[in-house]
Amino acid sequence: MAVRSILRIGDPRLRQVAEPVDAYDTPDLHELIEDMFDTMAAADGAGLAATQIGVIKQVMIFGVESTPRYPDIEPVPTTVLINPEFSVLSDEIAGFWEGCLSVPGMRGYVERPASIRYSGYDQFGNHTECDVAGFHAIVFQHEYDHLQGILYPDRIVAHDKFGFTEELAAAGEI
Ligand code: NI
Repeated sequence: MAVRSILRIGDPRLRQVAEPVDAYDTPDLHELIEDMFDTMAAADGAGLAATQIGVIKQVMIFGVESTPRYPDIEPVPTTVLINPEFSVLSDEIAGFWEGCLSVPGMRGYVERPASIRYSGYDQFGNHTECDVAGFHAIVFQHEYDHLQGILYPDRIVAHDKFGFTEELAAAGEI
């Protein structure tokens, strides 16, 4: 149980491709996931990838009831996903002003597939599969990107739609 420090963009570890987890229900894995939840809660985050605390393993968590970081989004159930995969379910694209605990104080407008089917395992090795849309689909894809060494600024198409949260809010963009 510990709040770990979150790597920030520029740290080369954030660009590494995460390795699959090969053993479930181990003390190390449970400790990692506890630390990730403590770290995410301390930072008011909606999701966190293990990569962001320097553990280059295919582990992500997410979940939000309400957060001051994203006041208008619908709740997403608390989820642990290990060795995740996903497929796109429709051609529809959704845009969102994304933020990231590894890019603090900033937002950028990113477009992603609006509805997806994801699968993976929890920390006990139980398989899960889920069809999702809305913020749930966005947060999954954002965390999945972290496991590939991709950060959301890489996906910003229009570079004027990227900036500090306070300036964007003052300009009425977010
Ligand atoms: Ni992030």
